[in-house]
Amino acid sequence: MVPHGPAERGKEAAGTRAAEAALPGMTIGLGTGSTAAFFVAALGRRVRNGELPGVRGVPTSLRTKQDALAQGVPLTTLEEAGSLDLTVDGADEVDPRLDLIKGLGGALLREKMVAQATRRFVIIVNEEKLVRRLGTRGPLPVEVVPFAWRCHLPFLASMGAQAVLRTRSDGEPYLTDNGNLILHCSFPEGIQDPSSLQEALASRAGIVETGLFLGLAHEVLVGGEGTVRRLSRSGEGAM
Ligand code: A5P
Repeated sequence: MVPHGPAERGKEAAGTRAAEAALPGMTIGLGTGSTAAFFVAALGRRVRNGELPGVRGVPTSLRTKQDALAQGVPLTTLEEAGSLDLTVDGADEVDPRLDLIKGLGGALLREKMVAQATRRFVIIVNEEKLVRRLGTRGPLPVEVVPFAWRCHLPFLASMGAQAVLRTRSDGEPYLTDNGNLILHCSFPEGIQDPSSLQEALASRAGIVETGLFLGLAHEVLVGGEGTVRRLSRSGEGAM
């Protein structure tokens, strides 16, 4: 993996730093996306160097599973592990409360299940992902069952969202690892009240999960050019 520009170098710096948090024997959630891939690569290097005996990874997508296997990271499943020591994942947006939008990589459901089962949830991003308000940089992904998915469009519009079906490059609907669809919901002014929105969406039958990760991240590593800043819920200083 060759980093190209500053944005990629920031992702790599954060991913490499996060891999230093891995300790022998840990069960570690492996995120999905281009930033998480840098973490998996750095973790794999430490495993192959013999620094992390007994470490097992829990991948959050089929893509990450293949990646981790290629890097030599021993794997287990969420079901088998039950609880995890550490999870490292990317994000699409991070607000000042460390609330997140995730899922533009399509893996939000498994990512949230793994995050909720983990004792320490570390997010890795570059500076571009930091926002004042969620929903101002891109859409909120929402995973829905395929059955009658169009019925959600007026409901989502009533919540202030312009929703479109995520499609693949060939125009066919994008299917998640769980066989579901994804609606990308744009909020022209951003999301005013993420908690109320999450509650409303979660109570709707047919909506499986949203990309709002509220109150889950314990810390965020923000990678820059040769630097990594650490943000934590308690407002602790830089790493
Ligand atoms: C995957 O479903 C997502 O939650 C990713 O973690 C998120 O989209 C960030 O991806 P990148 O690191 O590729 O920007």
